[in-house]
Amino acid sequence: MCGIVGYVGARQATLILVNGLRKLEYRGYDSAGVAVWNDGQSRVVRCRGKLAALEEKLIKEPAPGSTGIGHTRWATHGRPSDENAHPHKVGSISVIHNGIIENHLALRQELAAGGSKFTSETDTELFAHLVEREVRKGTTDLTAAVRAALAKVHGAYAFVVMNDKDPSTLVAAKNASPMVVGLGDGENFIASDVTAILSETRKIIFVEEGEIVTVTRDKVTLSDFDGKPRTREPKTITWSATQAEKAGFKHYMLKEIHEQPRSVADTLVGRVDLEKDDVYLDGVELDPKKFKRIIFIACGTSYHASLVGEFIIEALSRIPVEVDLASEWRYRDPIVGPGDLVVAVSQSGETADTMAAVREAKAKGAQVLAISNVLESSIPRLADMAFYTHAGPEIGVASTKAFTTQLIAMALLGVHLGRRSGHLKAPQARELLHELMLLPQKMKDIVDSGAQLQAIARRYGHAKGFLFLGRGAQYPIALEGALKLKEISYIHAEGYAAGEMKHGPIALIDENLPVVVLVPRGPVYDKVVSNLAEVRARQGKVVAIATRGDVDIGGIADEIVMLPDTAVELQPILTVLPLQLLSYYVADFKGTDIDQPRNLAKSVTVE
Ligand code: M6R
Repeated sequence: MCGIVGYVGARQATLILVNGLRKLEYRGYDSAGVAVWNDGQSRVVRCRGKLAALEEKLIKEPAPGSTGIGHTRWATHGRPSDENAHPHKVGSISVIHNGIIENHLALRQELAAGGSKFTSETDTELFAHLVEREVRKGTTDLTAAVRAALAKVHGAYAFVVMNDKDPSTLVAAKNASPMVVGLGDGENFIASDVTAILSETRKIIFVEEGEIVTVTRDKVTLSDFDGKPRTREPKTITWSATQAEKAGFKHYMLKEIHEQPRSVADTLVGRVDLEKDDVYLDGVELDPKKFKRIIFIACGTSYHASLVGEFIIEALSRIPVEVDLASEWRYRDPIVGPGDLVVAVSQSGETADTMAAVREAKAKGAQVLAISNVLESSIPRLADMAFYTHAGPEIGVASTKAFTTQLIAMALLGVHLGRRSGHLKAPQARELLHELMLLPQKMKDIVDSGAQLQAIARRYGHAKGFLFLGRGAQYPIALEGALKLKEISYIHAEGYAAGEMKHGPIALIDENLPVVVLVPRGPVYDKVVSNLAEVRARQGKVVAIATRGDVDIGGIADEIVMLPDTAVELQPILTVLPLQLLSYYVADFKGTDIDQPRNLAKSVTVE
């Protein structure tokens, strides 16, 4: 999401920082800033908007000096504004930060009780206060002050800290958010991504989880959070700048498929309370007594996420849910009004049809909740309430990490409503929340085993069409699998509810039709196995997506992709991953323009 660059050396820092941040622009951001030390203190220059706006500001307020930190912010806590832009300065301490401080509410209260005054809505400023408090208490070593402050913080983060009292040193810390150090000659660099500093150096130290790194002009010292020294040899990067933007992956889409364990973890951070068996939706509090039904409106992949949402929310809360395509619903003179909760789902928050549907819902008196990936985008601003996924900017036109984080949002919404409707009891909620927290590791296992899908893609990639089948919560995943394949490989694909096959699509089946069947263990397993047997009996080629340990599926499928087990409501978050990989590898095999498929736009802001 956000971008970090730090410099300590003999050259003018501002230029290096801004150039580095420019290389990270592709990740998306809504404000930018630098802090550069000169003549006894650092000057912070920051503003809402793009780097061009920052550069203009820097002409009026130059920031000369040869130690500095720079940041591009993609808003998560607090809207995009000059005040919320990084760096945040408290006393002599300036801080930039990527990630989320999970316990920010408790920290804010604690700091306020101690007399701290805040100038922004961000969680980052709290960390600046914590470090500054250590310095004020007499800790002269910046690394020690940062270490003491880190002991107070939970979450996923990468921080870089600068102290006006010691401009020769930058201190950085990493926990579950990327960070690298670049080694120069009489100068060193820090960045959230190799791309930012690749034009300056190719000698890179990758900072690992739970490490603090102290960087001066000619020394880089690594230690863990307890102060134990660590050592690591630098690596020489041979990627081109474009390859580096994609972190070495061939396409953004593949990179984003691999980012999913991280973005799902980010979407869960700070929202799950395992002690109270409940979830928090960024201050959104929904009272099921106040509405009689929920209506989801969305387009494309967000519509498929909503269909999964219908399944999860009805199962957990027993509140009736309807799902509609925004482009259809808005022109139907929909029957909606007070007592309805309309949930608008949009990754970009800018889709014209979804926006028009929100206007319609509001005009008719319904309450509107937006689920979006982009803070302060138009749909959340128009809605009465908003709740965000934290997938980070999605560059590939084909939605992947936005989809799985939307499914996480559906699960959180389901638990929230289920607990409040009284249908979801504490022990079941606990079990489900526990399963939710295990998902990132299971997702990693799946995306790391892409080689099997690559081999399957080679075997079936020449087919003229594909059929995807699923039942229950797997039906929307069949739709999503077909959409992904169509979008990027231009192969015709249909997603069908498996039980509907005999009512028509069965006529398509012959030895040339690959049929991807979603058949994880669950209440409709036997039914789907029967549908699979019907395909097999007509010589269709079956690719089964099944649960690890399923010994029965072996004899009846041509290819079997085994996945870890999880709760039925959460299975779609795992089963969609092999379908994303399959589409990707089929398209790669065909050589299409995967990140920008023909005729498609990332954000559809016209009707
Ligand atoms: O930004 P939104 O979620 O509102 O976008 C909706 C669709 O345009 C989008 O999901 C589209 O279908 C994607 N290309 C799917 O990969």
